[in-house]
Amino acid sequence: MIRQSTLRALGLSLPFALVLTGCDNGSPTSDLSLEDADPVMGLVTFQVECASCHASGDGFDLAFFSFPDSTIVRRALGHVPLSDALDIVAYIRSLGAETMTRHTRLFQPGNRILAGDRVFAEQLFGLDAWPVDLTPEELLAIDPRTVLVALDLPMWSVEKDNVDWMPDLPPADGILAFNGTGTTIEAYHQMPTDQRLVTAVNRLRHSVTSPQNSAAPCTFNDDRPVDYEACFQVQRWIASLGAQHMLRTDRMDGFHRNVHNAFWDVGQTVRRSIVQGRESPANGLENWIDWMWTGWIFEPQSHATIYLGTGLEAAGLVRHATFMTLRSLVARPANSLAPFVDVRNTARFSPDHWAGDATAFALRHLEERIMASDRVDQLSGESLAEAFLHLEQTYRLASEKDPTAAPMLRELVDRIEDMLPDL
Ligand code: HEC
Repeated sequence: MIRQSTLRALGLSLPFALVLTGCDNGSPTSDLSLEDADPVMGLVTFQVECASCHASGDGFDLAFFSFPDSTIVRRALGHVPLSDALDIVAYIRSLGAETMTRHTRLFQPGNRILAGDRVFAEQLFGLDAWPVDLTPEELLAIDPRTVLVALDLPMWSVEKDNVDWMPDLPPADGILAFNGTGTTIEAYHQMPTDQRLVTAVNRLRHSVTSPQNSAAPCTFNDDRPVDYEACFQVQRWIASLGAQHMLRTDRMDGFHRNVHNAFWDVGQTVRRSIVQGRESPANGLENWIDWMWTGWIFEPQSHATIYLGTGLEAAGLVRHATFMTLRSLVARPANSLAPFVDVRNTARFSPDHWAGDATAFALRHLEERIMASDRVDQLSGESLAEAFLHLEQTYRLASEKDPTAAPMLRELVDRIEDMLPDL
């Protein structure tokens, strides 16, 4: 048994003595208290009994999100006897890492949730319209990680539903066994460096999708049916592994694109289950847009806007969708063809009274891109046909929403079409 001196050496303060009564798991409780608990055993027990689901490996998450002793004991009792539960509490307290409350929504911009879509626009632009004076450079300077939104991004742990970072299950053995994936996770836990984390995340993302892995649940790339629920669970595990590294190393502003993309993956899986009409994880739309937004704010240049946009549209958040689309557009790398689709999606997602101004912004920016560097003169075949198609769809969608803007939009579309090679 550990002694007070050891607790002090571990930096534990014990102003409390947690004495539990009334537990019905059969163990005698009267003589068990936190003062007698053993934090060293607590770490061992956590690793054996808890770490498979709690991807931290060391209980960092429970300390970081300030879960109260009573909650840790209550949850631990589902897995271990009371004396072990108290050891875990003593160990978690020894970490001394309380930084956020357990009600914190990780990566929620400004730590505030707005009341709705219109409030979002008013907060961002000061009005419910696309701001006509805004330049592409100014839009690019708006950091999506700081833009307040009406989405309530996932908390760390929620017991009543699945809109949280904690997966309900550990990764299946076949996922860990494939291609040495489990070994890379162990290596990371032994020495949690950036490189080891990225390696573990990369192996995991590969293992869960690989057609070569018979245990992969996320078989989007082969003929086997996708196990959406299992895929959703394991992708949350990967996301929570990556997010905890960001928390540990104080990288809340962003870390590595593969880790950010692991957040996006969760939403993409839920989206696919919904659009395929398959049985979806619970709270489908919420999980879809919450996880995609969480991934998108770190990598606005790299995702197709249709995926997050259609989710936001389904949730009635069309102003969010328009902002997301245009903020992605201005961040696209040179020579990308994504802007043609972004322009069309702007026309699609924008509310009627935004459609003229927002679409004109998008078209003008596309024109500037083409003049500046984009090699659209080399477009040919299918890509060229798609570029024309997207431009015509843009015109049709936006002018239906805002007929008064139709002549101006026609002129912009014509100018761009004239810059393209002949079909
Ligand atoms: C089988 C997977 C699994 C194992 C093993 C597991 N947990 Fe959890 N734990 C979860 C999930 C999932 C949640 C998120 C809340 C929920 O969905 O019920 C959670 C949440 C918690 C919470 C926060 C509860 C809250 O109020 O939101 C605590 C504390 C906790 N676990 C402690 C432990 C401890 C200590 C152990 C080991 C003795 C452990 N867990 C083992 C899956 C697991």
